[in-house]
Amino acid sequence: MDTLPPGDAFDRELSLRELLGVFASDRLGRHLVALLGDYRLCDEKNEVVLESGNAAVDAPTIGIMLDIEPIGRLQSPANIKTLKAAAGLVEILLQSQMRYRMASRLHEEQVSHDYQRLQQEHAALLKSELKYRTLAAELEARVQAQVETLKTAERQLYQAEKLASVGQLAAGVAHEINNPIGFIRSNLISAIAYVKDISGLRPAIASGDEKKILTAWKTADMDFLLEDFQSLLQESIIGADRVARIVSDLKGFSSIEHGKEERIDLNESIRTVCNVAGSRIQQKAQLVLDLGELPALQCQPGHINDVLLAMLFNATQAVGEQGEIRISTAVEDGDICVRISDNGCGIAPENLSKIFDPFFTTREVGTGIGLGLTVSRDIVRAHGGHIEVESRVGAGTTFTVHLPLKGR
Ligand SMILES: Nc1ncnc2c1ncn2[C@@H]1O[C@H](COP(=O)(O)OP(=O)(O)OP(=O)(O)O)[C@@H](O)[C@H]1O
Ligand SMILES: [Mg+2]
Repeated sequence: MDTLPPGDAFDRELSLRELLGVFASDRLGRHLVALLGDYRLCDEKNEVVLESGNAAVDAPTIGIMLDIEPIGRLQSPANIKTLKAAAGLVEILLQSQMRYRMASRLHEEQVSHDYQRLQQEHAALLKSELKYRTLAAELEARVQAQVETLKTAERQLYQAEKLASVGQLAAGVAHEINNPIGFIRSNLISAIAYVKDISGLRPAIASGDEKKILTAWKTADMDFLLEDFQSLLQESIIGADRVARIVSDLKGFSSIEHGKEERIDLNESIRTVCNVAGSRIQQKAQLVLDLGELPALQCQPGHINDVLLAMLFNATQAVGEQGEIRISTAVEDGDICVRISDNGCGIAPENLSKIFDPFFTTREVGTGIGLGLTVSRDIVRAHGGHIEVESRVGAGTTFTVHLPLKGR
């Protein structure tokens, strides 16, 4: 297809040369030689477009018309009939060339129009893509902010729940401390009375009369008094030691020390946790410790205590009055394994996969928020370990905490 000069208007009148183009001119030239012999084809300005080479200047000429407009002339010494027929053929050829060009122009305009439309659509798409990208970024930022808010709320909720269990612990500890404080106080009251009785001997001793002294000694029942005085002081020392031990156990739960890493004896931590939680557990179940020999464990003791306590509380909540909770420790495949077993209610199979989910709880409203195991799993994972659980409804549950000795 011949291409049109750029910017050509659709209705512009084309010259004979433009209409024929190179290809049509070649073929037409050969046919005109065959028909006319010598010839000359000129445009309306009388410029030669095609010629055979020997056309006589004074040979007969016939006009070539295109859509009732003259577009050129054909000149040849051939007879006039043949010249007319040849001119007719040239006109038919020009008309078909004209139609062909019109059709190709239409096609080109359509293609160019489609291209422009596509370009506009592409630009619109780019614009809306940018809009959606901005929206997506905004949405992501909002989701991020919501996640942060939720995390904060979750942490606050956990802190609140932790405070509540600290309150429960405090009640247990108060009970534990109350008992020794009670008997230390009553012993001290007896001691004051005994000191008064001893002072009562002073006049008899001052008289120097042995008989008087002996009578006063017997009247005051001094032999029993001295013996009892000693044993009540002994008992008070034991009481004070018990208070001191409770206080030192509680220090293990101080949140200030939670972040520090230490090498600890995990069995000792278990004993401490049992002492602290003891009063709460003993009301319900019997606690059996079966602690194997363990190497020191590098960990965050405060966090590990939280895990043990959460599991111990869960076990306590699972067992009835006659229940038993057993804690055993051992080294298995490079891990320290702590097993906390109870013969309580067990976990329904459909709940087994959910117990570590945040806020999953089967407890009544106000008695648990379902974060104990979630937080425990996170702590154990942070120590490079994992927790396994086995449970049968009606038979009991065993949680096994694996803590690798080779660190994280
Ligand atoms: N030893 C167990 N025996 C039976 N069910 C258990 C035991 N331990 C956990 N569960 C089940 O798993 C659920 C989730 O325990 P988790 O400790 O995470 O939360 P919770 O005890 O309900 O609440 P809290 O946040 O106060 O600990 C419990 O509600 C309970 O149904
Ligand atoms: Mg719990």
